[in-house]
Amino acid sequence: MPEIVLQGVTKRFGSTVAVNGLTARIFDREFFVVVGPTGCGKTTLLRLLAGLINPDQGEILFDGVRMNGVPPRERGVRMIFQGQDYALYPHLEVYSAERWSNLSFPLRLRGEKAKTIGERVQRVVQRLGILPDWFPRKPRELSEGQKQKVALGRATVLIPKVFLLDEPLSHLDPPARAQAREEIRRLHAELGTTTVYVTHDLAEAFLLGDRVAVMRDGRFLQVGTPKEIRDHPADAFVAEFVRAYREGLKKAFGV
Ligand SMILES: Nc1ncnc2c1ncn2[C@@H]1O[C@H](COP(=O)(O)OP(=O)(O)OP(=O)(O)O)[C@@H](O)[C@H]1O
Ligand SMILES: [Mg+2]
Repeated sequence: MPEIVLQGVTKRFGSTVAVNGLTARIFDREFFVVVGPTGCGKTTLLRLLAGLINPDQGEILFDGVRMNGVPPRERGVRMIFQGQDYALYPHLEVYSAERWSNLSFPLRLRGEKAKTIGERVQRVVQRLGILPDWFPRKPRELSEGQKQKVALGRATVLIPKVFLLDEPLSHLDPPARAQAREEIRRLHAELGTTTVYVTHDLAEAFLLGDRVAVMRDGRFLQVGTPKEIRDHPADAFVAEFVRAYREGLKKAFGV
């Protein structure tokens, strides 16, 4: 839930056109990956979907309902932000049954009962392999991988309708990255939430995406399955991107 439609969506910052007349359809329950170089508009697109900013032109629809102007909390959207701290609350512990904490925050905010909070937190803790040892720690006392799990946990204690992830693995080292990728994949399969995942790594996009959108200068150059993009790049920029990806594979595996 739900299907997301973008119709001619444009967002400008002064003279910069961050998102430029974007039209696309993201299917219900799809794992949709947006890949593109730095500054091409990926984060801006996620912020538009989350409702943190609104388009200057065009429409965003969730299951046919116009979202322009609808505030973030009424959209059922959760976003994992780009950056080292994952927007965790630095002064709060990972989890406490008595106090406000990172994992219980969204549930407390909704005024859920202690029993419900305990049950929901337990479920995400099990799902993500969060250890009770971490509960009393503040985010600065966690490793990157641990922080990332807590951020994923906080984002899914209430099952979102739409899940937005902005380069969530960029701070992890390669083995942790591979593991976290698997976890995110599994999380998506379990929750069935329409997911938009941003990366600048085409290999990651191909591993994760049901479909992949290659973005440049605020537009999608091509949207397709990993196989379609690999086998039939729609334009020169996508072809070059795929070539660099193949080169990377060659270097890694000597094939
Ligand atoms: N709040 C803002 N004010 C002014 N310009 C902005 C703002 N946010 C984004 N931009 C500009 O819009 C363009 C798109 O930025 P955006 O952050 O969406 O790129 P991105 O694809 O997420 O890049 P990266 O891969 O580096 O995170 C850039 O040129 C950026 O400088
Ligand atoms: Mg960004």
